[in-house]
Amino acid sequence: MTLKFARHRRLRTTAALRSMVRENHVHVNDLIYPLFFVEGTNKKNEIPSMPGVYQFSLDRLGEELDEIVSLGIKSVLVFGIPEHKDDCGSEAYADTGIVQKGIRVIKERYPELVVIADTCLCEYTDHGHCGVVHDGYVDNDESLELLIKTAVSQAKAGADIIAPSNMMDGFVAAIRAGLDEAGFQNIPVMSYAVKYSSAYYGPFRDAANSAPQFGDRKTYQMDPANAREGLREAASDVEEGADFLIVKPGIAFMDMLYRLRETFHLPMVAYNVSAEYSMVKAASANGWINEREIVMETMLGFKRAGADLIITYHAKDIAKWLREGG
Ligand code: PBG
Ligand code: ZN
Repeated sequence: MTLKFARHRRLRTTAALRSMVRENHVHVNDLIYPLFFVEGTNKKNEIPSMPGVYQFSLDRLGEELDEIVSLGIKSVLVFGIPEHKDDCGSEAYADTGIVQKGIRVIKERYPELVVIADTCLCEYTDHGHCGVVHDGYVDNDESLELLIKTAVSQAKAGADIIAPSNMMDGFVAAIRAGLDEAGFQNIPVMSYAVKYSSAYYGPFRDAANSAPQFGDRKTYQMDPANAREGLREAASDVEEGADFLIVKPGIAFMDMLYRLRETFHLPMVAYNVSAEYSMVKAASANGWINEREIVMETMLGFKRAGADLIITYHAKDIAKWLREGG
């Protein structure tokens, strides 16, 4: 009896063959590592829900930067936790703000390290929302003014890329115009274009002390039920001059990476967010999963879906594993 069928397994018979037909790879250049800065001295506070991730005071940042650079990581995404918060988040756009100071520290030690500044107000406002609040509602256009000031002050401090995460309408247009007017035409905008209102940000809000003090972010961040709306969000950001598009969170929204990759032609970024990290760490600490294999499989998922870059708290571990051969 002669059956005719495809022998897919032929190309899987040896490791060498498998490596020759591998369609996607994770490279250290793909990785962006988030960093949290705090005021004060001699602080390296581990975030309880994110083992291995710390808040650093600026005097302790050097050791972390040395490690990042020695691992070959090219880029960091910086967040600040200020000492004082107020209703308009004024520490977000102070030239002496924690993020501005932190960026200067990095640029002095490692001018080549690409510093991406997260541009938002929620870490800096006493109510914890990403904009200015009037009668319980986040005012869009008034928030834009403060976001422009924040982006410009970050660029002045030396940020290489501005990454607005606030989800106000028109934030890319506003920030692009603000940067241009201040002479920063060459600073790219990495837009959090498709950002869902998500429980996956829980551990981050512990790390950045940025949980909203009332209500939630559902009037500005997207409804996880919606995909077409994500395409509209991305289309307006492209139109307004975004240079990169971020999809966030990553794992539960991988379809959005794929949809954006099919539709737009800008470099695309997956944000592998805090709870995605925490879940892996918790299961791994219990011996329930193989952390390294789980993480690498997830990263390949992002690449397969179309991501060029991946923001991930696993970046240092991944860089080490890649050195050991993947
Ligand atoms: C600030 C911001 C958040 C994250 C990145 N920038 C939190 C939020 O929107 O509530 C989440 C990152 C993560 O969970 O790892 N707006
Ligand atoms: Zn925010």
